[in-house]
Amino acid sequence: MSYSSTSASFMSVTVILVAMMLHRSNGQLNATFYANTCPNVSSIVSSVVQQALQSDSRIGASLIRLHFHDCFVNGCDASLLLDNSSSILSEKFSGPNVNSARGFNVVDNIKAAVENSCPGVVSCADVLALAAESSVSLSGGPSWNVLLGRRDSLTANQAGANTSIPSPFEGLSNITAKFSAVGLNTNDLVALSGAHTFGRAQCRTFSNRLNNFSGTGNPDPTLNSTYLTTLQQICPQNGSGTALANLDPTTSDAFDNNYFTNLQNNQGLLQSDQELFSTTGAATISIVNAFSSNQTAFFQSFVQSMINMGNISPLTGSSGEIRSDCKKVNGS
Ligand code: HEM
Repeated sequence: MSYSSTSASFMSVTVILVAMMLHRSNGQLNATFYANTCPNVSSIVSSVVQQALQSDSRIGASLIRLHFHDCFVNGCDASLLLDNSSSILSEKFSGPNVNSARGFNVVDNIKAAVENSCPGVVSCADVLALAAESSVSLSGGPSWNVLLGRRDSLTANQAGANTSIPSPFEGLSNITAKFSAVGLNTNDLVALSGAHTFGRAQCRTFSNRLNNFSGTGNPDPTLNSTYLTTLQQICPQNGSGTALANLDPTTSDAFDNNYFTNLQNNQGLLQSDQELFSTTGAATISIVNAFSSNQTAFFQSFVQSMINMGNISPLTGSSGEIRSDCKKVNGS
């Protein structure tokens, strides 16, 4: 082999190696991560979600919320799924999650089904990302190729869950800041809030709007009066704070763009929902209008923003582990 062809092949090997290193350090996740080790993982997840939906029409909503609450705390690393133990202060008992986050048993069922076909291969963090996609597509929303390859944390961060997950009582600027803190922008905020097109909320998360809003002695002025009456019936004063209302009063279990039309009609359930449309001068208003008038535009943005959210600080390579039980660190 001549000197020039040897050096040319050395060069091309170097180029390939550098390209692989760059790929690992920035791209991290990819859609074909389990192509050889668990090729049917998406359909396994989807069939368990579909089965769960038969007896609980709300479960899809609950599952996508778990992925959101996982990703906002230390990244998408399944830290949310760890139970209390001698070394773990569980995120399940943080303010945003306690008596609220649900669907953990279905996550365990999905994980068991996946372990049955591909033991020790698929992370709990990826199970959450796949379950979120299945939940949306099985409810009439878009489907997409989920990026995979996340690994599972060895720790939880309860204090982080208390501070990083947005509250329904927060103003738009605080919520925007919490999204920005994890690299998500205003478009992501509006698109992802569209997940409130399905699922339920407890009276305690919005009843402050119904009678004496911010000490005014009156309901929140940005609540449609007919809708207000309905909500006052569901959540009477001194009634149970755990009674449930549909986040989308029009098509409660379908994934569609009605959430945005509701906001235009002053029928946002949470204060944080309605603020996207009713905050004077906010950049979010035109995005709400765009998604309300064009479901395809909403679906496209939603998919991109789910990918953006799913990319928040994943553990990859040899960081973390593949948990065999999503509730516990291996060997504990
Ligand atoms: C923008 C800031 C957000 C706030 C303040 C917020 C707040 C809330 C609250 C208070 C509930 C009701 C919880 C309960 O009553 O127990 C809820 C439910 C829900 N959230 Fe959000 N959320 C936000 C963003 C998101 C995002 C980004 C997603 C997903 C991409 C999401 C998905 C859901 C779903 C699907 C439900 C219904 C869950 C069920 O029925 O079990 N939310 N959210």
